[in-house]
Amino acid sequence: MRRREFLKSVALVGVGAIGAQARIVDIEQFRQFFRQLVRLARYGSLPIPKLATSEIVDGVRVFAMHIQKRSHTFFDGVATHTYGINSSYLGETIRIKNGERVKIDYFNHLDEPTTMHGHGMHVPAIMDGGVHQIIEPGTVWSTQYRVKQEACTNWYHPHLMGKTAEQVYKGLAGCIIIEDDVEELPREYGVDDIPLVLQERRFVNAQIDYSPSRMEIMHGYTGGELIVNGAIAPTFRVYRRLLRMRLLNGSNASLFRVALNHNLSFWIIAGDNSFLPRPELVDEVMLSPGERVEIVLDMDGFEGRELLLVEKGSQRTILHLYIAQALEENGAIPSSLIALEPMEEAKRKREFVFGMRRMKFTINGKSMDMRRIDERIPVNEPEIWEVYNPMGMAHNFHIHATHFRILERNGSSANVKAWERGYKDTVFLAPRDRVKLYVKMRDYVDEKSPYMYHCHFLEHEDNGMMGQFVVV
Ligand code: C2O
Ligand code: CU
Ligand code: CU
Repeated sequence: MRRREFLKSVALVGVGAIGAQARIVDIEQFRQFFRQLVRLARYGSLPIPKLATSEIVDGVRVFAMHIQKRSHTFFDGVATHTYGINSSYLGETIRIKNGERVKIDYFNHLDEPTTMHGHGMHVPAIMDGGVHQIIEPGTVWSTQYRVKQEACTNWYHPHLMGKTAEQVYKGLAGCIIIEDDVEELPREYGVDDIPLVLQERRFVNAQIDYSPSRMEIMHGYTGGELIVNGAIAPTFRVYRRLLRMRLLNGSNASLFRVALNHNLSFWIIAGDNSFLPRPELVDEVMLSPGERVEIVLDMDGFEGRELLLVEKGSQRTILHLYIAQALEENGAIPSSLIALEPMEEAKRKREFVFGMRRMKFTINGKSMDMRRIDERIPVNEPEIWEVYNPMGMAHNFHIHATHFRILERNGSSANVKAWERGYKDTVFLAPRDRVKLYVKMRDYVDEKSPYMYHCHFLEHEDNGMMGQFVVV
């Protein structure tokens, strides 16, 4: 059903209800009716970020990405001021292949500086788009490399010192898909393979409101509408039996517990940086900011019905799925996906402890300083990184340049969740959690250009919870 039809039928029901109640003025019923109307008005169809077009120039796949001020429709008939990349909100999806040489040109049309980081990308430090690769207004910055990693869903977003949270909040983020070659899996972008960028956004008079108080910087800027690909509780029509969804928590600080209604189970096939060794059947997945999973739903038996993708913590609908009466077969869920590299004996151990000092967040007692290198890490040497959160609030930990494996949480491998069993670049830490990671830096040695590690709750990152390392 299209949005207009929906609205009309609800309006008819509404008129009937009002007629029946004409003698008794039931304010509560009116309220409920209007609330329902507002809710239904939002049932647009799910926006799918377009695939960015590219051109092959001398064997290099070149993308042109324009970072701009735009306006976007979150609410019918109202324009909301936003930032976007080739798009009115969020960015186009960059799809590339392992082994391919790519160049991404980011044009900054804003009137403020920014940077553009490839989160999860294994690239040289100067191509990383971290805090040092500033793109001044009216200029272009190019990141160029050979893709050197397996299939996964990564993303790009600004990383400007102190400004990341605000720029992401206004709409700057997009997906990077490194294509796979697992024939059985659904792979038609926008049809049976769709990205879902989950975010919370606060609005005041239909305008995005980023105005964190001191307390909100402490706890992270959360709340407001739950949006997916820039839409509120939209609908998606499913025509094929298997639906693959690439979930990204693109929020500043919100935690999402994603599930299906009726507690139906679904398959998780991939985490941040790789497939899992084998698909895992779950009935819920928890994502902290920056984390991704790929899930596959099997619609067999749900023909003609509606399913809801929900956020369990807040009981809100993320997405309505309308399943067609007859489903086309489109593959199968393989029983195994990848083999993880055998682990070698670690050469050394490092510890990272979260904290706070004079209203700033710290890691190992230090707040981020762009001129300070915190760690020097020898290339190709396996290490154990222990990350400890002694605080009473949740955080997570993200490392650039590499992917890691989570060995233990709070002393036990049993606390490593189903979706954490592949390669990861971001790991969640509840209050008092301690995680043990197996980390190995590869390929790109550069004594001078640092990468970052940080908490990916963006208000924390912007307020000191970040450090720098070089690979030597
Ligand atoms: Cu997605 Cu350093 O970040
Ligand atoms: Cu990153
Ligand atoms: Cu944090």
